[in-house]
Amino acid sequence: MEKILDIITSKMEQAFADAGYDPAFGRVTVSNRPDLCEYQCNGALAAAKQCKCAPIQIAKAVVGKLDAGDYSLVEAVMPGFINLKLSDRFLVEYLQQMRTAEDFGVEKIGAGKTIVVDYGGPNVAKPLHIGHLRSAIIGESLKRLYRFMGYQAIGDIHLGDWGLQMGLIIAELQERQPELCYFDKDFTGPYPTEAPFTISQLEEIYPAASAKKKEDEDFAHRAHTATFELQQGRPGYRAIWQHIMKLSVADMTKIYDSLDVHFESWLGESDADPFIPAMIQDMKDKGLTVMSDGALVIPVAEEGDKKEVPPCILVKSDGSSIYATTDLATMVQRMRDWNPDKILYLTDKRQSLHFEQVFRAARKAGIVKPETELEHVGFGTMNGKDGKPFKTREGGVMRLEQLLADMTAFVRAKVVENQIVSDEEVDDTTAKIALAALKYGDLSNQPTKDYIFDMDRFAAFEGNTGPYILYTIVRVKSILSKYGDWQHLPIRTPNNSYAKDLMLAVTKLGPTLEAALKSSSPNLICAYIYELAGCVNKFYHETPILKEENQEVKAGHIALIGLAKDVLECCIHLLGFSAPEKM
Ligand code: ARG
Repeated sequence: MEKILDIITSKMEQAFADAGYDPAFGRVTVSNRPDLCEYQCNGALAAAKQCKCAPIQIAKAVVGKLDAGDYSLVEAVMPGFINLKLSDRFLVEYLQQMRTAEDFGVEKIGAGKTIVVDYGGPNVAKPLHIGHLRSAIIGESLKRLYRFMGYQAIGDIHLGDWGLQMGLIIAELQERQPELCYFDKDFTGPYPTEAPFTISQLEEIYPAASAKKKEDEDFAHRAHTATFELQQGRPGYRAIWQHIMKLSVADMTKIYDSLDVHFESWLGESDADPFIPAMIQDMKDKGLTVMSDGALVIPVAEEGDKKEVPPCILVKSDGSSIYATTDLATMVQRMRDWNPDKILYLTDKRQSLHFEQVFRAARKAGIVKPETELEHVGFGTMNGKDGKPFKTREGGVMRLEQLLADMTAFVRAKVVENQIVSDEEVDDTTAKIALAALKYGDLSNQPTKDYIFDMDRFAAFEGNTGPYILYTIVRVKSILSKYGDWQHLPIRTPNNSYAKDLMLAVTKLGPTLEAALKSSSPNLICAYIYELAGCVNKFYHETPILKEENQEVKAGHIALIGLAKDVLECCIHLLGFSAPEKM
């Protein structure tokens, strides 16, 4: 469906043409004086300069050519503005179309296109901590948005499964249990199917090994060698690696599931490894690489750089490849397997330079097509109330599991205390509210900004919060269920200004989603549903809905709040949470 702004702009262009002026002056914008009008056109002012006459004359002539039935207000005002308010007829027809069209008639701007969203990025064998939260939340939301807008969207978790942490675990395990078959070079297999450790043991082994590395040079050396041998394919180490992967992935899946975050692809850095040799050879053949202090690099500085952009390192002097090499090789794999039109990366904004280097190197080397879009969304930090990166009470790094558990316990207490639902429903209702609190608390901020994690505020049922949005949805659901069958009811002429405001808010869905996608800003969706929920509640408070005696008017009100509720539910799905039945 065409957006309202586009519809009235083309009508305005026609009116300019009919009045004898250049149609290009007919651009309509959302009014910056909502007290006066909803939309406005300032084209007469520019047209007047061109034809050297009074703008108000032009504005009046153009207004005379417009279809008055489209507007409840259409006037030319000094010095030459055209102010517009949509007519009830226009709004009713538009909403009726939205109600019946698929996905509210939002234009599928991504039809036929593919996007890979690289988010999550957890490291195997290390517990997920709050540093991984934003990537998961923002990434999942953007992926759902792209998908809604018609793209084929592939979420790829890009596991950190190939680095030194693997060698550290292997070296530590060897110290503790040298008798295991994995370390016996003469062992010919098969290796046990059961891992020699549990996930909790693994989570203890890694930090122990990591600490040891700092004190014990010999140990550090052994860990490096183990990493190298693993990457070369030593069978015993590969077998340990498989065990670590299996346990770790199962554990991660559990946590991501509880966040309602789901990946289409579970590839990792290790999967990019086979692409590295040919990629590097190709870059050498193209004459793009140079040696610098023993390392093989691609210079990527460009004229006009305001800051120094250092070369992208491909192979370090010790022969190992690094983070950037892996990201480039991963692009080779993605282009081969999915041929995406766009790749979107979500990481902490401290990685911005890394992605700038990688993107430039990828373009130089022709790994992606010139038209392939590459975007990095670098997000800010989640801080505690002291304004410093969020920590546990003891000052340690907060595990994601713990954060979720804390939020859930906090919300559960409210659910139980307010006797919101029956005992059997407490878990499900709590989980939904807690997730809304957590995700909305994050997503309502512009991704690049830091924000303060404030459980009280995020979980409040009032204010600009996830639970407030859920509460609004639940309230409407309850009215609808009291009314009965409502899905087929047509939209009717608004009978008060609150209904009209609500209708106008509903029509902004399409433009909001497009703007959110174009600027990678789910916060625009949050701001939109906060406004929409406000209109719903205002309408609800000012209008007797179920008590209305005129059945037609009542049906119109029901149809309107039903549509608003559907739009709200669509938006929270795009943000990555859902509403309970009761609250
Ligand atoms: N594992 C990385 C880290 O913990 C994040 C990976 C992000 N994605 C990427 N393609 N580099 O920092």
